[in-house]
Amino acid sequence: MGLLFRSLAMLVVVIWFSRLSDLSAQSPSGQAPALDALLQDYAYRAFVHPKTGVPYDAQVPSNLTGIEIAALRLRSGSLYRRGVVYKEFNIPVGLTESPYAERLVLVYQNLGNRSMVYYPLPGYSYLAPVLGLLAYDAINLSAKNLPLLDLRASRDPINIEFQDVKPTPDGTIAKCVTFDLDGSVNLSNVRSGNACSAVQQGHFSIVVESLAPAPSPVTTNNVSPPSPGGGGKKKSNSKTWIIVGSVLGGLALSALLAFLVLWVHKYKERKHLEEMEKAADVGEALHMTTVGDTKAPSAMVTRTQPTIESEYVP
Ligand SMILES: *[C@@H]1O[C@H](CO)[C@@H](O)[C@H](O)[C@H]1NC(C)=O
Ligand SMILES: *[C@@H]1O[C@H](CO)[C@@H](O)[C@H](O)[C@H]1NC(C)=O
Ligand SMILES: *[C@@H]1O[C@H](CO)[C@@H](O)[C@H](O)[C@H]1NC(C)=O
Ligand SMILES: *[C@@H]1O[C@H](CO)[C@@H](O)[C@H](O)[C@H]1NC(C)=O
Repeated sequence: MGLLFRSLAMLVVVIWFSRLSDLSAQSPSGQAPALDALLQDYAYRAFVHPKTGVPYDAQVPSNLTGIEIAALRLRSGSLYRRGVVYKEFNIPVGLTESPYAERLVLVYQNLGNRSMVYYPLPGYSYLAPVLGLLAYDAINLSAKNLPLLDLRASRDPINIEFQDVKPTPDGTIAKCVTFDLDGSVNLSNVRSGNACSAVQQGHFSIVVESLAPAPSPVTTNNVSPPSPGGGGKKKSNSKTWIIVGSVLGGLALSALLAFLVLWVHKYKERKHLEEMEKAADVGEALHMTTVGDTKAPSAMVTRTQPTIESEYVP
């Protein structure tokens, strides 16, 4: 039985890990870094006669409507000493960048209805748009494909206060999600209903685990509009099905494994019994040779007797 439990525990661990790796492998999608580069270019275009410390909203190309961007140029020394409030981001004192830049630009992104396109998160749905905060050197305001500066909150974390967060569905718990620039995804607790913290730059949002599978695929087809942008919901449905499927598959596998373990157990037991019987048979045969060629009935009697113990009783 110990073996059975160990196998089951092992299976649970394997399923859990495959789910975790699934989470980090699928997001952000491969297009996210290219989008960051494109939005940096478009955000910098808002700097015509820029004043330091003033945020400028910028235009996105027409194929990206629904996304909002802004750019804010700052002296890094004053940012470190004073912090800044920039849209939803409340940056405290102590923010450092590396390599050092005398002036830097903070690019703000609000991915709006395109959040799930660029940051798909299987098994979760967004309660707020994905927001991005990215830092670049401000030395050349017409530069493209700039490398990111590494931004760190060295004292208190950056506070992100999301606006218009959708209500949390009953029975679910909202989580902050952080997409690091290296592609890793972290979930953490939401504070005061709509706030998340960050210690570095990246992309942030609030999510909940998706509820049980929505109506059957047929109904979804009837309801969904024929627009190419309508694929998001269907995709998340199919993801729900994949999760349900893998859970059922996991259960079936556990049952099969349990069966197998039990069978092996039984088989071993039988084998053991057979060996004991065989040993007994040999004993009988020896016994019979010493006693004489008596038939089976007397052999049966010999087998059931506790021969060895009784022989040694004084
Ligand atoms: C959108 O348009 C811009 C400029 O025309 C182009 O550089 C970019 O590749 C396009 N992006 C997408 C995601 O289609
Ligand atoms: C997002 O909304 C804009 C209008 O605000 C629309 O043009 C665009 O097609 C939408 N994109 C998606 C992916 O739904
Ligand atoms: C700024 O970047 C642009 C585009 O990469 C380049 O053409 C220009 O020479 C750069 N200016 C300076 C002063 O480096
Ligand atoms: C995400 O979690 C990992 C592991 O717990 C941790 O090493 C990493 O620093 C976290 N990243 C963020 C942005 O919190």
